[in-house]
Amino acid sequence: MAILNWGMIGGGDGSQIGPAHRLGARVDGEFAFVAGALDHRPDEGRAYGQRLGLAADRAYGSWQEMLAGEKDRPDRVDLVTVATPNATHFPITKAFLEAGFHVLCEKPMTMTVEEGEEIVRISRATGAICAVNYGYTGYALVRHMRAMVARGDIGKVRVVNAEFAHGHHADAADAENPRVRWRYDPAQAGISAQFADCGIHAMHMASFVTGQEVEKLSADCVSAIPSRVLEDDAMVNFRMSGGAVGRLWTSSIAIGRQHGLGIQVFGETGGLRWTQEQPNQLYYMPLKQRLQVIERGEGNLSPEADRASRVTVGHAEGMPLAFANIYKDLAEAIHARKQGRPMDPAADLFPKAEDGLRSMAAVFAVAQSGKANGAWTDARPPMFR
Ligand code: NAI
Repeated sequence: MAILNWGMIGGGDGSQIGPAHRLGARVDGEFAFVAGALDHRPDEGRAYGQRLGLAADRAYGSWQEMLAGEKDRPDRVDLVTVATPNATHFPITKAFLEAGFHVLCEKPMTMTVEEGEEIVRISRATGAICAVNYGYTGYALVRHMRAMVARGDIGKVRVVNAEFAHGHHADAADAENPRVRWRYDPAQAGISAQFADCGIHAMHMASFVTGQEVEKLSADCVSAIPSRVLEDDAMVNFRMSGGAVGRLWTSSIAIGRQHGLGIQVFGETGGLRWTQEQPNQLYYMPLKQRLQVIERGEGNLSPEADRASRVTVGHAEGMPLAFANIYKDLAEAIHARKQGRPMDPAADLFPKAEDGLRSMAAVFAVAQSGKANGAWTDARPPMFR
Protein backbone atom coordinates (compact mmCIF):
# COMPACT_ATOMS: atom_id res chain seq x y z
CA MET A 1 0.00 0.00 0.00
CA ALA A 2 1.21 3.54 -0.77
CA ILE A 3 3.11 5.31 1.97
CA LEU A 4 1.23 8.33 3.32
CA ASN A 5 2.81 11.75 3.73
CA TRP A 6 2.93 13.06 7.27
CA GLY A 7 3.72 16.47 8.76
CA MET A 8 4.08 17.85 12.23
CA ILE A 9 3.53 21.21 13.93
CA GLY A 10 5.29 21.64 17.27
CA GLY A 11 7.37 18.84 18.75
CA GLY A 12 10.61 20.78 18.30
CA ASP A 13 14.03 20.02 19.74
CA GLY A 14 13.70 19.23 23.46
CA SER A 15 9.91 19.08 23.46
CA GLN A 16 8.28 16.48 25.64
CA ILE A 17 5.88 14.81 23.26
CA GLY A 18 7.47 15.35 19.83
CA PRO A 19 9.73 12.26 19.88
CA ALA A 20 6.86 9.91 20.87
CA HIS A 21 4.89 11.07 17.83
CA ARG A 22 7.85 10.69 15.49
CA LEU A 23 8.50 7.18 16.78
CA GLY A 24 4.83 6.19 16.74
CA ALA A 25 4.08 7.53 13.28
CA ARG A 26 6.84 5.53 11.66
CA VAL A 27 6.74 2.15 13.42
CA ASP A 28 4.59 0.49 10.77
CA GLY A 29 6.08 2.17 7.70
CA GLU A 30 2.69 3.71 6.87
CA PHE A 31 3.80 7.34 7.09
CA ALA A 32 6.81 9.21 5.72
CA PHE A 33 7.78 12.35 7.66
CA VAL A 34 7.96 14.97 4.89
CA ALA A 35 7.00 18.38 6.33
CA GLY A 36 7.06 20.26 9.60
CA ALA A 37 6.86 23.56 11.46
CA LEU A 38 8.43 22.25 14.59
CA ASP A 39 9.27 25.22 16.76
CA HIS A 40 7.79 28.59 17.74
CA ARG A 41 11.16 30.08 16.74
CA PRO A 42 11.21 29.93 12.90
CA ASP A 43 14.95 29.45 12.41
CA GLU A 44 15.23 26.75 15.08
CA GLY A 45 12.21 24.99 13.58
CA ARG A 46 13.67 25.03 10.06
CA ALA A 47 17.09 23.86 11.24
CA TYR A 48 15.71 21.06 13.42
CA GLY A 49 13.38 19.90 10.65
CA GLN A 50 16.32 19.55 8.29
CA ARG A 51 18.35 17.74 10.96
CA LEU A 52 15.48 15.23 11.13
CA GLY A 53 15.67 14.76 7.36
CA LEU A 54 13.05 17.15 5.95
CA ALA A 55 13.80 18.80 2.60
CA ALA A 56 14.74 22.47 3.03
CA ASP A 57 11.56 23.67 1.28
CA ARG A 58 9.34 21.62 3.60
CA ALA A 59 11.07 22.53 6.89
CA TYR A 60 8.82 25.49 7.56
CA GLY A 61 9.25 28.44 9.94
CA SER A 62 5.62 28.60 11.05
CA TRP A 63 2.36 26.69 10.71
CA GLN A 64 0.95 29.44 8.48
CA GLU A 65 3.94 29.01 6.15
CA MET A 66 3.39 25.24 6.20
CA LEU A 67 -0.30 25.57 5.34
CA ALA A 68 0.49 27.89 2.42
CA GLY A 69 3.35 25.66 1.23
CA GLU A 70 1.47 22.36 1.46
CA LYS A 71 -2.06 23.11 0.34
CA ASP A 72 -1.49 23.14 -3.42
CA ARG A 73 1.23 20.50 -3.63
CA PRO A 74 0.21 17.31 -5.45
CA ASP A 75 2.18 15.37 -2.82
CA ARG A 76 0.85 17.36 0.09
CA VAL A 77 0.74 15.84 3.57
CA ASP A 78 -2.06 13.32 4.17
CA LEU A 79 -2.01 13.88 7.92
CA VAL A 80 -0.87 16.76 10.14
CA THR A 81 -0.08 16.27 13.82
CA VAL A 82 -0.53 19.32 16.05
CA ALA A 83 1.74 19.02 19.11
CA THR A 84 2.05 22.66 20.13
CA PRO A 85 1.00 24.21 23.48
CA ASN A 86 -2.71 24.02 24.28
CA ALA A 87 -3.95 27.50 23.34
CA THR A 88 -2.73 27.09 19.74
CA HIS A 89 -4.54 23.79 19.04
CA PHE A 90 -7.81 25.37 17.97
CA PRO A 91 -6.59 27.89 15.38
CA ILE A 92 -4.11 25.45 13.83
CA THR A 93 -6.51 22.50 13.71
CA LYS A 94 -9.32 24.67 12.33
CA ALA A 95 -7.15 26.12 9.56
CA PHE A 96 -5.86 22.72 8.42
CA LEU A 97 -9.28 21.04 8.56
CA GLU A 98 -10.77 23.89 6.52
CA ALA A 99 -8.11 23.26 3.90
CA GLY A 100 -9.16 19.60 3.82
CA PHE A 101 -6.19 18.10 5.68
CA HIS A 102 -6.69 15.23 8.12
CA VAL A 103 -5.45 16.26 11.58
CA LEU A 104 -4.27 14.49 14.72
CA CYS A 105 -4.47 17.11 17.46
CA GLU A 106 -2.87 16.83 20.88
CA LYS A 107 -5.17 17.17 23.87
CA PRO A 108 -6.93 19.32 24.89
CA MET A 109 -8.35 19.85 21.42
CA THR A 110 -9.58 23.37 22.25
CA MET A 111 -9.78 25.81 25.15
CA THR A 112 -13.59 26.16 25.17
CA VAL A 113 -16.67 24.04 24.50
CA GLU A 114 -17.77 26.42 21.74
CA GLU A 115 -14.47 25.96 19.93
CA GLY A 116 -14.83 22.20 20.34
CA GLU A 117 -18.26 22.29 18.73
CA GLU A 118 -16.85 24.35 15.88
CA ILE A 119 -14.13 21.75 15.24
CA VAL A 120 -16.73 18.95 15.20
CA ARG A 121 -18.86 20.92 12.72
CA ILE A 122 -15.90 21.69 10.44
CA SER A 123 -14.71 18.10 10.50
CA ARG A 124 -18.19 16.85 9.62
CA ALA A 125 -18.70 19.46 6.89
CA THR A 126 -15.32 18.99 5.20
CA GLY A 127 -15.12 15.23 5.71
CA ALA A 128 -11.58 15.71 6.99
CA ILE A 129 -10.68 13.43 9.90
CA CYS A 130 -9.98 15.15 13.19
CA ALA A 131 -8.43 12.79 15.71
CA VAL A 132 -7.42 13.72 19.26
CA ASN A 133 -4.42 12.13 20.89
CA TYR A 134 -5.79 10.28 23.88
CA GLY A 135 -2.92 8.04 22.98
CA TYR A 136 -3.12 5.75 26.01
CA THR A 137 -6.23 4.14 24.54
CA GLY A 138 -3.82 2.83 21.92
CA TYR A 139 -2.38 0.28 24.38
CA ALA A 140 -3.22 -3.24 23.24
CA LEU A 141 -4.59 -4.29 26.62
CA VAL A 142 -6.78 -1.19 26.98
CA ARG A 143 -8.29 -2.16 23.65
CA HIS A 144 -8.65 -5.69 24.92
CA MET A 145 -10.46 -4.42 28.04
CA ARG A 146 -12.87 -2.60 25.78
CA ALA A 147 -13.42 -5.75 23.72
CA MET A 148 -13.96 -7.86 26.86
CA VAL A 149 -16.52 -5.41 28.22
CA ALA A 150 -18.29 -5.23 24.84
CA ARG A 151 -18.51 -9.02 24.49
CA GLY A 152 -19.94 -9.35 27.99
CA ASP A 153 -17.02 -11.01 29.81
CA ILE A 154 -17.76 -9.06 33.01
CA GLY A 155 -21.49 -8.56 32.48
CA LYS A 156 -23.18 -5.21 32.82
CA VAL A 157 -20.75 -2.60 34.12
CA ARG A 158 -21.60 -1.34 37.59
CA VAL A 159 -18.63 0.85 38.53
CA VAL A 160 -15.59 2.25 36.74
CA ASN A 161 -12.76 3.64 38.83
CA ALA A 162 -10.13 5.69 36.97
CA GLU A 163 -7.19 7.71 38.15
CA PHE A 164 -4.29 9.76 36.91
CA ALA A 165 -2.09 10.92 39.75
CA HIS A 166 1.50 12.14 39.79
CA GLY A 167 3.62 13.98 42.30
CA HIS A 168 5.64 16.24 40.06
CA HIS A 169 4.12 19.49 41.36
CA ALA A 170 4.09 18.57 45.02
CA ASP A 171 7.03 20.69 46.15
CA ALA A 172 5.67 23.93 47.65
CA ALA A 173 9.17 25.42 47.42
CA ASP A 174 9.04 25.00 43.62
CA ALA A 175 5.50 26.34 43.17
CA GLU A 176 6.67 29.76 41.95
CA ASN A 177 9.01 28.30 39.34
CA PRO A 178 7.62 29.81 36.09
CA ARG A 179 7.57 26.35 34.36
CA VAL A 180 5.20 25.11 37.08
CA ARG A 181 3.36 28.27 38.05
CA TRP A 182 1.67 28.98 34.69
CA ARG A 183 -0.22 25.69 34.85
CA TYR A 184 -2.21 26.88 37.87
CA ASP A 185 -2.78 30.44 36.60
CA PRO A 186 -6.19 30.87 34.92
CA ALA A 187 -4.80 33.60 32.63
CA GLN A 188 -2.47 31.07 31.03
CA ALA A 189 -4.01 27.67 31.68
CA GLY A 190 -7.75 28.35 31.40
CA ILE A 191 -10.33 27.19 33.93
CA SER A 192 -8.74 23.94 35.09
CA ALA A 193 -5.20 22.69 35.72
CA GLN A 194 -4.85 19.07 36.84
CA PHE A 195 -8.19 17.79 35.59
CA ALA A 196 -7.73 19.43 32.18
CA ASP A 197 -4.16 18.16 31.86
CA CYS A 198 -4.43 14.61 33.24
CA GLY A 199 -7.93 13.89 34.50
CA ILE A 200 -9.36 13.98 30.99
CA HIS A 201 -7.12 11.10 29.90
CA ALA A 202 -8.62 8.97 32.68
CA MET A 203 -12.16 10.10 31.94
CA HIS A 204 -11.77 9.46 28.21
CA MET A 205 -10.39 6.01 29.02
CA ALA A 206 -13.43 5.26 31.21
CA SER A 207 -15.68 6.07 28.24
CA PHE A 208 -13.50 4.18 25.79
CA VAL A 209 -13.41 0.99 27.86
CA THR A 210 -17.07 0.94 28.87
CA GLY A 211 -18.49 2.27 25.59
CA GLN A 212 -20.54 4.75 27.64
CA GLU A 213 -20.50 8.56 27.69
CA VAL A 214 -20.25 10.74 30.79
CA GLU A 215 -23.57 12.49 31.35
CA LYS A 216 -23.26 14.33 34.67
CA LEU A 217 -20.66 14.79 37.34
CA SER A 218 -19.88 16.16 40.77
CA ALA A 219 -16.37 17.45 41.51
CA ASP A 220 -14.35 18.24 44.62
CA CYS A 221 -11.40 20.39 43.50
CA VAL A 222 -8.65 21.60 45.82
CA SER A 223 -5.46 23.60 45.58
CA ALA A 224 -3.34 21.74 48.10
CA ILE A 225 -0.63 24.35 47.59
CA PRO A 226 -2.57 27.44 48.69
CA SER A 227 -0.91 29.98 46.33
CA ARG A 228 -2.45 28.13 43.37
CA VAL A 229 -5.69 29.46 41.92
CA LEU A 230 -6.47 26.30 39.94
CA GLU A 231 -6.75 22.78 41.34
CA ASP A 232 -3.84 20.45 41.87
CA ASP A 233 -6.07 17.61 43.09
CA ALA A 234 -9.63 16.62 42.23
CA MET A 235 -12.08 13.82 42.96
CA VAL A 236 -14.85 13.52 40.41
CA ASN A 237 -17.94 11.32 40.65
CA PHE A 238 -19.84 10.74 37.45
CA ARG A 239 -22.75 8.88 35.90
CA MET A 240 -22.59 7.31 32.46
CA SER A 241 -25.03 6.84 29.61
CA GLY A 242 -25.37 3.06 30.12
CA GLY A 243 -25.93 3.34 33.86
CA ALA A 244 -22.33 2.85 35.05
CA VAL A 245 -21.16 4.80 38.08
CA GLY A 246 -17.79 6.53 37.68
CA ARG A 247 -15.12 7.53 40.24
CA LEU A 248 -12.07 9.48 39.16
CA TRP A 249 -9.13 10.84 41.16
CA THR A 250 -6.48 13.06 39.63
CA SER A 251 -3.59 14.76 41.39
CA SER A 252 -0.28 16.47 40.80
CA ILE A 253 0.76 16.46 44.46
CA ALA A 254 0.75 12.67 44.95
CA ILE A 255 4.37 12.24 46.03
CA GLY A 256 5.73 8.90 44.88
CA ARG A 257 3.36 8.56 41.97
CA GLN A 258 4.97 9.00 38.54
CA HIS A 259 2.54 8.55 35.67
CA GLY A 260 -0.27 7.03 37.67
CA LEU A 261 -2.88 6.46 34.99
CA GLY A 262 -4.99 3.40 35.68
CA ILE A 263 -8.47 2.01 35.37
CA GLN A 264 -10.62 -0.63 37.03
CA VAL A 265 -13.98 -1.80 35.72
CA PHE A 266 -16.35 -3.80 37.88
CA GLY A 267 -19.24 -5.62 36.22
CA GLU A 268 -21.92 -7.99 37.49
CA THR A 269 -19.79 -11.08 36.73
CA GLY A 270 -16.18 -9.90 36.85
CA GLY A 271 -13.61 -7.17 37.30
CA LEU A 272 -10.70 -5.83 35.22
CA ARG A 273 -7.68 -3.79 36.28
CA TRP A 274 -4.92 -2.12 34.21
CA THR A 275 -2.25 0.50 34.90
CA GLN A 276 -0.14 2.53 32.49
CA GLU A 277 3.12 1.80 34.25
CA GLN A 278 2.62 -1.99 33.83
CA PRO A 279 0.83 -1.87 30.49
CA ASN A 280 1.63 -5.41 29.39
CA GLN A 281 -0.54 -7.12 32.00
CA LEU A 282 -4.30 -6.98 32.43
CA TYR A 283 -5.83 -8.42 35.59
CA TYR A 284 -9.12 -10.25 35.15
CA MET A 285 -11.15 -11.53 38.06
CA PRO A 286 -14.17 -13.56 36.95
CA LEU A 287 -16.78 -13.93 39.71
CA LYS A 288 -16.08 -16.95 41.96
CA GLN A 289 -12.92 -17.90 40.05
CA ARG A 290 -9.22 -17.25 40.46
CA LEU A 291 -7.45 -14.08 39.35
CA GLN A 292 -6.12 -14.33 35.79
CA VAL A 293 -3.23 -12.31 34.39
CA ILE A 294 -3.65 -11.64 30.68
CA GLU A 295 -0.34 -10.88 28.95
CA ARG A 296 -0.08 -8.58 25.96
CA GLY A 297 1.07 -10.64 23.00
CA GLU A 298 -0.77 -13.85 23.92
CA GLY A 299 -2.46 -15.09 20.75
CA ASN A 300 -6.15 -14.69 19.99
CA LEU A 301 -7.06 -12.18 22.67
CA SER A 302 -9.42 -10.07 20.53
CA PRO A 303 -9.07 -8.67 17.00
CA GLU A 304 -8.53 -5.20 18.48
CA ALA A 305 -5.74 -6.32 20.83
CA ASP A 306 -4.08 -8.69 18.35
CA ARG A 307 -3.95 -5.89 15.76
CA ALA A 308 -2.45 -3.48 18.31
CA SER A 309 0.30 -5.83 19.51
CA ARG A 310 3.63 -6.06 17.70
CA VAL A 311 6.40 -7.54 19.81
CA THR A 312 6.19 -11.14 21.03
CA VAL A 313 4.81 -11.94 24.47
CA GLY A 314 7.11 -11.19 27.38
CA HIS A 315 8.75 -8.15 25.79
CA ALA A 316 7.41 -4.85 27.09
CA GLU A 317 5.61 -2.45 24.77
CA GLY A 318 5.31 1.14 25.97
CA MET A 319 3.84 4.53 25.21
CA PRO A 320 5.31 5.23 21.73
CA LEU A 321 3.83 1.87 20.61
CA ALA A 322 0.45 2.94 21.99
CA PHE A 323 0.76 6.14 19.93
CA ALA A 324 1.75 3.95 16.98
CA ASN A 325 -1.64 2.28 17.21
CA ILE A 326 -3.41 5.63 16.87
CA TYR A 327 -1.29 6.25 13.73
CA LYS A 328 -2.00 2.73 12.45
CA ASP A 329 -5.74 3.36 12.84
CA LEU A 330 -5.42 6.70 11.07
CA ALA A 331 -3.47 5.16 8.19
CA GLU A 332 -6.30 2.65 7.71
CA ALA A 333 -8.94 5.42 7.94
CA ILE A 334 -7.11 7.55 5.34
CA HIS A 335 -6.51 4.64 2.96
CA ALA A 336 -10.18 3.60 3.25
CA ARG A 337 -11.29 7.12 2.30
CA LYS A 338 -8.87 7.29 -0.60
CA GLN A 339 -10.11 3.93 -1.88
CA GLY A 340 -13.80 4.63 -1.19
CA ARG A 341 -14.23 1.52 0.97
CA PRO A 342 -15.38 0.99 4.57
CA MET A 343 -12.56 0.90 7.11
CA ASP A 344 -11.59 -2.14 9.19
CA PRO A 345 -13.81 -1.84 12.31
CA ALA A 346 -10.92 -3.05 14.51
CA ALA A 347 -9.05 0.11 13.42
CA ASP A 348 -11.89 2.51 14.06
CA LEU A 349 -10.76 3.10 17.62
CA PHE A 350 -8.82 6.35 17.39
CA PRO A 351 -10.27 9.19 19.52
CA LYS A 352 -12.19 11.69 17.43
CA ALA A 353 -13.18 15.37 17.53
CA GLU A 354 -16.40 14.33 19.29
CA ASP A 355 -14.26 12.86 22.09
CA GLY A 356 -12.18 16.04 22.28
CA LEU A 357 -15.39 18.04 22.57
CA ARG A 358 -16.83 15.77 25.29
CA SER A 359 -13.62 16.23 27.26
CA MET A 360 -13.87 20.02 27.05
CA ALA A 361 -17.46 19.88 28.27
CA ALA A 362 -16.30 17.71 31.18
CA VAL A 363 -13.50 20.17 32.02
CA PHE A 364 -16.00 23.02 32.21
CA ALA A 365 -18.43 20.90 34.24
CA VAL A 366 -15.68 19.96 36.71
CA ALA A 367 -14.69 23.62 37.16
CA GLN A 368 -18.31 24.68 37.60
CA SER A 369 -19.20 21.87 39.99
CA GLY A 370 -16.00 22.42 41.97
CA LYS A 371 -16.97 26.04 42.57
CA ALA A 372 -20.50 25.02 43.57
CA ASN A 373 -19.57 22.64 46.40
CA GLY A 374 -19.77 19.60 44.16
CA ALA A 375 -23.23 20.28 42.72
CA TRP A 376 -24.18 17.66 40.12
CA THR A 377 -23.62 19.27 36.73
CA ASP A 378 -24.49 18.27 33.16
CA ALA A 379 -21.22 17.16 31.52
CA ARG A 380 -22.53 16.79 27.97
CA PRO A 381 -21.66 19.36 25.30
CA PRO A 382 -24.77 21.37 24.32
CA MET A 383 -24.62 19.91 20.81
CA PHE A 384 -25.07 16.35 22.18
CA ARG A 385 -27.87 17.09 24.67
P1 NAI B 1 6.72 21.41 25.05
O1 NAI B 1 6.67 22.77 25.63
O2 NAI B 1 7.72 20.43 25.59
O3 NAI B 1 6.95 21.52 23.47
C1 NAI B 1 6.15 22.33 22.66
C2 NAI B 1 6.82 22.45 21.29
O4 NAI B 1 5.96 23.18 20.42
C3 NAI B 1 8.14 23.21 21.32
O5 NAI B 1 9.05 22.58 20.47
C4 NAI B 1 7.77 24.59 20.77
O6 NAI B 1 8.84 25.28 20.14
C5 NAI B 1 6.70 24.23 19.77
N1 NAI B 1 5.78 25.31 19.45
C6 NAI B 1 5.19 26.18 20.30
N2 NAI B 1 4.38 27.02 19.63
C7 NAI B 1 4.49 26.69 18.32
C8 NAI B 1 3.91 27.20 17.13
N3 NAI B 1 3.06 28.22 17.16
N4 NAI B 1 4.25 26.62 15.96
C9 NAI B 1 5.12 25.58 15.90
N5 NAI B 1 5.70 25.06 17.02
C10 NAI B 1 5.39 25.61 18.21
O7 NAI B 1 5.24 20.83 25.17
P2 NAI B 1 4.81 19.30 25.26
O8 NAI B 1 4.88 18.86 26.67
O9 NAI B 1 5.48 18.52 24.20
O10 NAI B 1 3.23 19.42 24.96
C11 NAI B 1 2.73 19.75 23.69
C12 NAI B 1 1.27 19.35 23.66
O11 NAI B 1 1.18 17.95 23.84
C13 NAI B 1 0.42 19.96 24.78
O12 NAI B 1 -0.81 20.36 24.27
C14 NAI B 1 0.23 18.85 25.79
O13 NAI B 1 -1.02 18.94 26.47
C15 NAI B 1 0.27 17.65 24.91
N6 NAI B 1 0.76 16.45 25.59
C16 NAI B 1 0.06 15.29 25.41
C17 NAI B 1 0.43 14.13 26.00
C18 NAI B 1 -0.36 12.89 25.75
O14 NAI B 1 -0.16 11.91 26.43
N7 NAI B 1 -1.26 12.86 24.77
C19 NAI B 1 1.60 14.07 26.90
C20 NAI B 1 2.32 15.33 26.98
C21 NAI B 1 1.90 16.46 26.35
